[in-house]
Amino acid sequence: MKINQNHFNLIENYLFSEVADKVKKYSEKNPDKKVIKLGIGDVTLPLCKVVVEEMKKAADEMSHKNTFKGYGPEEGYLFLREKVQDYYNKKNVTLSTDEIFINDGAKCDIGNILELFSQDNYVLIPDPVYPAYVDCNVMDGRKIKYINATKANDFLPLPARENQADIIYLCSPNNPTGAVYNHKQLQAWVDFALANEAIILFDAAYEAFIGDKNLPSSIFEVENARKCAVEFCSLSKTAGFTGIRCGYTIIPQDLIYESKNLNKMWKRRLAAKFNGVSYIVQRGAGAVFSEDGQKQIQENIQYYKNNAQIISRALDKLNIYYTGGINSPYIWMKCPDGMTSWDFFDYLLQRANVVGTPGSGFGKNGEGFFRLTAFGDRENMIEAAERIAKL
Ligand code: MLT
Repeated sequence: MKINQNHFNLIENYLFSEVADKVKKYSEKNPDKKVIKLGIGDVTLPLCKVVVEEMKKAADEMSHKNTFKGYGPEEGYLFLREKVQDYYNKKNVTLSTDEIFINDGAKCDIGNILELFSQDNYVLIPDPVYPAYVDCNVMDGRKIKYINATKANDFLPLPARENQADIIYLCSPNNPTGAVYNHKQLQAWVDFALANEAIILFDAAYEAFIGDKNLPSSIFEVENARKCAVEFCSLSKTAGFTGIRCGYTIIPQDLIYESKNLNKMWKRRLAAKFNGVSYIVQRGAGAVFSEDGQKQIQENIQYYKNNAQIISRALDKLNIYYTGGINSPYIWMKCPDGMTSWDFFDYLLQRANVVGTPGSGFGKNGEGFFRLTAFGDRENMIEAAERIAKL
């Protein structure tokens, strides 16, 4: 039995595990200290009322013989796919229900989709970005090219000749920088992908945080994207589903490569490898798209955005450069006094007992930057801002 040697090309620890590990060790050594965690983007507000009520009803159905449900469709129940279809209709994006696949959160499918593509492909990944894209491709042994996202291009790199690749990852609103592509910029990527017969894997996990109605919240708002893009979305940050697990992957029927239909390939793969998301969870997810659900999730999103403002105001006063926090739950700040990202992590943890995520964990261009999440309790946010200001 031979093991996959590519595995050893991974960096030793996954970013968020390393942060969690360091914080655990610090807290064990300093049990009297109140550590405020603004590291991993994990929600803190409870699920919306309508979601919980719907899941309770679904759980109850499971206790009666005539309403009990066993295996569901691997692509998700039609009632939920129709709700997602309506949600896209409101963005003027027309999808058929067989283009919508219910997933257990964006992360799994972002990696799983790679099973449809040869390992010979070149992959283009923005730097900095969510580290799972790199790790999934490293494990498969694909060749990775990076495209720089820096302050000079507002953290929104655009395609150029030297960026030719087969598989292109884009994340907008971006994790970690919070930068959002506009229509024209996304159109440039779509045109580039079409000209190069490449595919765009578009991570829209933070789309619900886009407040500016002029900005696209789906790549399918851009002309011809149906011919070259897959979109991944998640209810994790949108509706507090980080622990519940539900999202959706959009694979248009127009994605034809080497005369093969990717939608059909994905459906076949799902049948072999997935038995769908739990019925109870899908019922809860359905409630997110109801009128009340949309109202209630927006209240929570607004709460997190107000948290972001608390941190932004503190950084403004300190004259520290940052971006994000407006159409995104993340603040991307420059480490003061030329500190490296990990030095600043240790300094902030030890001196202010505040946890963030070192920017270098998102790529080489993240060095010297630091990410703070707005997914916290209000009192903790205020206290963290005060502690940072004092330090
Ligand atoms: C993050 O902090 O970047 C995210 O919570 C990680 C994730 O969504 O897996």
